[in-house]
This record gives sequence, C-alpha cells and structure tokens, in this order.
Amino acid sequence: MSIFHQPVMARTCVDLLNLRAGGVYVDATLGGGGHALAMYQKEPGIKLYGFDQDAEAIAEAAKTLQNYNATLIQRNFRDLRTQLAYNKVKSIDGILFDLGVSSHQLDMGERGFSFDKDAPLDMRMNRSQKLTAAEIVNDYPESELKRIFQEYGEEHAAGRIAKAIECARTENKIVSTKALAQIIESVVGVGTKASLKTKVRIFQALRICVNDELNALSASLIDAINLLKPGGRIVVLSYHSLEDRIVKQTFKLATRDCICPPAIINCVCDHKSTLKLINKSPLSADAEEITSNVRSRSAKLRAAEKKKGEK
Ligand SMILES: C[S@@+](CC[C@H](N)C(=O)[O-])C[C@H]1O[C@@H](n2cnc3c(N)ncnc32)[C@H](O)[C@@H]1O
Repeated sequence: MSIFHQPVMARTCVDLLNLRAGGVYVDATLGGGGHALAMYQKEPGIKLYGFDQDAEAIAEAAKTLQNYNATLIQRNFRDLRTQLAYNKVKSIDGILFDLGVSSHQLDMGERGFSFDKDAPLDMRMNRSQKLTAAEIVNDYPESELKRIFQEYGEEHAAGRIAKAIECARTENKIVSTKALAQIIESVVGVGTKASLKTKVRIFQALRICVNDELNALSASLIDAINLLKPGGRIVVLSYHSLEDRIVKQTFKLATRDCICPPAIINCVCDHKSTLKLINKSPLSADAEEITSNVRSRSAKLRAAEKKKGEK
C-alpha cells in the first residue's frame, strides 16, 4: 500500500458501504485514495466523487485512481451538497469520512502539523487558506488560546500554557513548531509521558482550530445523511473523542422519532427518524492491524443506513 497513507480498517469500511454496481458513492476525505481504491477493487462498477481540501492529497489520489471512473474535487467537505449539485448529483448510495490528517501531512515537516519536526507553525490542510497556526498562537488573546486548548485539546494545563505563550510572544514572535513545543515543555516538563501527551493535545487543538474541523464535520454529516438514498450507508472513521462525539450524537438524533426535551410529554417536534445504526458501539481495528499501522489504534468506526421509505 502507498506510503502516502495506509488506509485504516479498509476492508470493514468497504464492506459496511454495501457497494453495488452503478451506485454513486462519495469519499469525503480522499487522502492518498487508499480507501477509494479499496472501494473500486471490491466493486469496479461504482461512480465515485472524492473530496479533499489538500492539493497534495488530490494529486496523489489522482494517481492512485487513474484507471477508475472517479471525479476528484479539491474542496472542503462542508461544500459537499453544493459541489455534488454542481456535478448534477442529487442523491448518493454511500459516503465515507476518514477524518483528521493523513500520514503524509504529518510526515511533511514543512506543513507544521507535528512537533517532532521543526517547521513553521502552519497546520493548514488547504494551503490557500489565510489562517495559520502561527496567527492563532501570536495574535489571539490569551483567554481565547485557553478556550481553544480546553475545548479542542481537553487539556488540563490550558490556562498555564496560554499564559506561557502570552509571556513568550511579548519577547519574540512564536514562529516554529519547536518554539511552541519548548513553551509547552516549560509548563509541563520535558521527556515524560504526560508532557508528550500535552504536546499532542495542544497541537491537536491548534490543528482543529486552524481547519475549523468540528464545525465542518457537524455541518457536512447532516448534509450527507440528507443526500443518502433509502438503504444508502454512511461510514465514519474518527480518531479522537471530540470527532466521535459529534458523529455519535448526529447519528443518534437522526435515529429518533422525537427530539423534544424530556419534560415535554406529548411530542411537538414532528421529528422523524431517518437513520438506523448498523453498529450500536463503534468498531475498532484488530490487534494485527494495530501492530502494522499504529494510526489505527485510536480509530472508531460508526456506520448507519438511511431508512427505507425516506427521501
Ligand atoms: C485520514 S486522511 C484520509 C486518508 C484516506 N482515507 C486514504 O486512504 O488515503 C484525511 C484526509 O482528509 C482531508 N480532510 C480533512 N478534513 C477535511 C475537510 N473538512 N474537507 C476536505 N478534506 C478534509 C485531509 O486533508 C486528509 O487528506
């Protein structure tokens, strides 16, 4: 498999999509096209629309899928509905989301996603976007940094790290991943498991904020469910609890016939369930895959099906 990115739980994802010849499918997060290729290998007669906001991912996926009938769209998946409409696609038979960053994005030092490699504080998946991690770290108020680290990193030392950043940036602009990592270490120490985890959480929080990941996910899950044909499937792989919570709650809401608050005894919401869950609890990678692909360790896979009789 390509070094660009090793797809996680590929066989399970493809099986859950229930592919059928002639069906229209979406890979919302193409990356290197590994999952998309697995879809074509299982059912060559599908039509696939693939999204990624990263030009390098689109270029790699174009190579991977060159022999297949795929339309690649370099856009944020929050534009799913409008981009499919532009391609005259009104409904789909299945959609896959494989969230987060690819190994390629992490490995390319200059993209600034990883504290393992010294690089400019960038973290943009879409490199034509203006907002970078450097802008957040240097220009956002201390209180806002604390909120970002708390909300998107679930980090206990959020306040102390935000304060340390505020102090450091009055001396010099913080422009590199290494400089930021050192500021975090000045608060939580160096070389311990706990300090490593804090760096992971702070970098994750900044990445989520730069790419507005959670808002894009919430909006596009709802659009994806609406676009599904009856019997169509949605499959989502997430890698941290914030993503998984959004997927779980969105699916749960769509499976309920009433979403009135518990205090209301007679339903007034008129909400009708449109989805049924395929798996009640999220699926995980097996031990063999976790050994061969460490990234699969944190994967949680949820899948649901559009109810028959729904438009
Ligand atoms: C985990 S990788 C996907 C890997 C892919 N499944 C494969 O087999 O190679 C996630 C990809 O989704 C893209 N991505 C993340 N959020 C996105 C969004 N909101 N819109 C479009 N692409 C996004 C990233 O740029 C990255 O290439």
